[in-house]
Amino acid sequence: MSVGSKMDLNAADFDVIAKIAYRESGLQLVKEKSSMIQSRLRHRVNALGLESFGSYTNLISSDNGRTELRHMISALTTNVSHFFREKHHFDIFETKIVPGLREKMKNGEKVRIWSAGCSNGQEGYSIAMVLLNKIPDVASFDVKILGTDIDPNVVEFARKADYPERLTDGIPEELLKKFFARSQAGTENQFSAGDALRELVSFKELNLLADWPMKQKFDVIFCRNVVIYFDLETQNKLWPRFLGALKADGHIFLGHSERIIDNEAVGFLTDGPTTYRPKTNRTN
Ligand SMILES: C[S@@+](CC[C@H](N)C(=O)[O-])C[C@H]1O[C@@H](n2cnc3c(N)ncnc32)[C@H](O)[C@@H]1O
Repeated sequence: MSVGSKMDLNAADFDVIAKIAYRESGLQLVKEKSSMIQSRLRHRVNALGLESFGSYTNLISSDNGRTELRHMISALTTNVSHFFREKHHFDIFETKIVPGLREKMKNGEKVRIWSAGCSNGQEGYSIAMVLLNKIPDVASFDVKILGTDIDPNVVEFARKADYPERLTDGIPEELLKKFFARSQAGTENQFSAGDALRELVSFKELNLLADWPMKQKFDVIFCRNVVIYFDLETQNKLWPRFLGALKADGHIFLGHSERIIDNEAVGFLTDGPTTYRPKTNRTN
């Protein structure tokens, strides 16, 4: 057998990887994407000095493979994001939700917002820019934006918040000037989030399929372009958990190709494009 064929991902190894990825993260790997998965994981096989995907699947199936599993999930996740992605949600947030949040702040209530599956942090910082722009003294209230993701690499990137210019496309010029500091990184301009943004947003590693340690309920949850990688069974397990994590007057935004099927049965009313709010007036 040539070295090249050993480094190919065969059907049996694909099945092992797909089964473990599903169990650990909910990610659904389809056979049609086998060559993409092979190329994403080949560098892990090389980095570990293993001679084949067979050795790799042996490792991740064993007790010694826990550390590698985090690298594997990180390599398998799709982390594409943009500032102000799906702008209509930020418009709804600004015009319909922020006024109510401002009232809560002025009444001394806590305001909590969650970017679930936050990738490199663009979603959380976009939310922060809207808040800071509408409520310049927002830092004087009890307001927190939490970004979480299963992938430790994106969480680290989001915390650093140094964005090469090519990733800043969606940020309007005046917001870029107001909230980011420009510097040079090699040949490219870099924009680093300023203190006002950093003070509002924090990031943590969290697998949405695991327990959620957050004690407070959220006013708004952005969980966009995340559940699309999950099967219906996994999605259906998540909806009641999101409902339970929302305040009675809260809102949840999903990505453009995601839906809560039979949302009323779950307890959500539609309140805009891929926007939902709890159906009942539960007390918080
Ligand atoms: C395509 S990005 C979406 C980023 C952002 N929400 C947006 O819409 O631009 C999907 C993110 O979901 C994360 N993710 C996938 N499975 C997850 C899980 N089980 N728990 C938490 N995050 C997960 C990935 O690591 C990735 O960063």
